[in-house]
Amino acid sequence: MAAILLDGAAVARHINSELKQRVTKLSKRGVQPGLAAVQLGDNPAARIYVHNKVRVCAEVGLYSEVHRLDADCPERVLLTALDKLNLNSRIHGIIVQLPLPRHLDTARIVQSIAVDKDVDGFNWRNLGALVDGHPLFVPCTPQGVMTLLDRTGIPVEGRHAVVIGRSGIVGKPMALLLIGRGATVTVCNSKTPNLAHITRQADILVVAAGRPGLVSGEMVKPGATVIDVGINRLPNGKLVGDVDFEGAQQRAAYITPVPGGVGPMTVAMLVDNTVTAAERCAAAQLLAAAPAS
Ligand code: GUN
Repeated sequence: MAAILLDGAAVARHINSELKQRVTKLSKRGVQPGLAAVQLGDNPAARIYVHNKVRVCAEVGLYSEVHRLDADCPERVLLTALDKLNLNSRIHGIIVQLPLPRHLDTARIVQSIAVDKDVDGFNWRNLGALVDGHPLFVPCTPQGVMTLLDRTGIPVEGRHAVVIGRSGIVGKPMALLLIGRGATVTVCNSKTPNLAHITRQADILVVAAGRPGLVSGEMVKPGATVIDVGINRLPNGKLVGDVDFEGAQQRAAYITPVPGGVGPMTVAMLVDNTVTAAERCAAAQLLAAAPAS
C-alpha cells in the first residue's frame, strides 16, 4: 500500500491562520511583528526562498522588508546593515539568507544578529540553549519537521530516528530536537559506510543531505515515516528531494512530498518565531511602562 502523504502545505496553512490571531492581538497593543530578510547576490533559488518568506509574512499580517546587497558586498557593509536592523524597533526578527558568498565569514555575520532577533535560531547562544532544551528560538526547518510529526499524530518517543545530514541549519538541531523528545537518534551523512543498513532500522528517517536520489525505496524500513528535507532542481527543471519518492512511498507508512512537505513548514516556523519575538518585545515594553510598586 502506498504511504500516506504528510501534507506540510495544509498543516502550514492551518498554523498560519493561528498566527493571524496572535498578530491581531498584538495589533490591539499597537505592535506589528516585523521581519527583515537580507539576501546577497541574485541566486534564483535564494530569491524564491526569500520571496516565499515575505509572501507568507504579508498573508499573516506581518511587516517585512528585504535588503538585497551585491554578491561582492564587503563584509563591513553587511555588518553595518545588520547593526542598524538590530537597533530598528520596527524589526523583531532578522534573517540572512544562506549560503553566503565565499568571501564572507558566515559565522561572524550570523553571530552579529541580536540574540533576541535571531529568528533563524542560529546564534550560538540559541544553539547552546537548544542542547539544554531551553532556546529562545529553534531553527525553523527542524522545528517544522517536529511540528509536522506532532500535528499529524506521529509519535517520536521510544522510536529510532535516523537523520542524514550534519549541517548546523538542519541535521544537528534536528538530532537535538529528536533526542529531547525521547527518540533514539543516529546521525549519518552522505559518506556514512553502509548507509542502507542504518536507514533500514529507522522508524523515522529525516533526509537533509542535498543529494537527489540519495535514499532509494529499498533503504526504507517498511512502515517508516520518511521526511525529505532536500530540495534539488534537476537539469530538466523538476524539483525533487533527496529521497526517491516513487520507491520510498511503496514501503513507508508516511512520507513528505517535495515540494509541499517540509518547505511550507519551515516558512510557518519562521513567521511563528517572528511573532514570538514581537510578543516578547511587547511584554517587555509593558513591564517597563508599569509603575514601580
Ligand atoms: N538557507 C537554507 N535554509 C535556510 C534557513 O533556514 N535560514 C536561512 N537564513 N538560510 C537558509
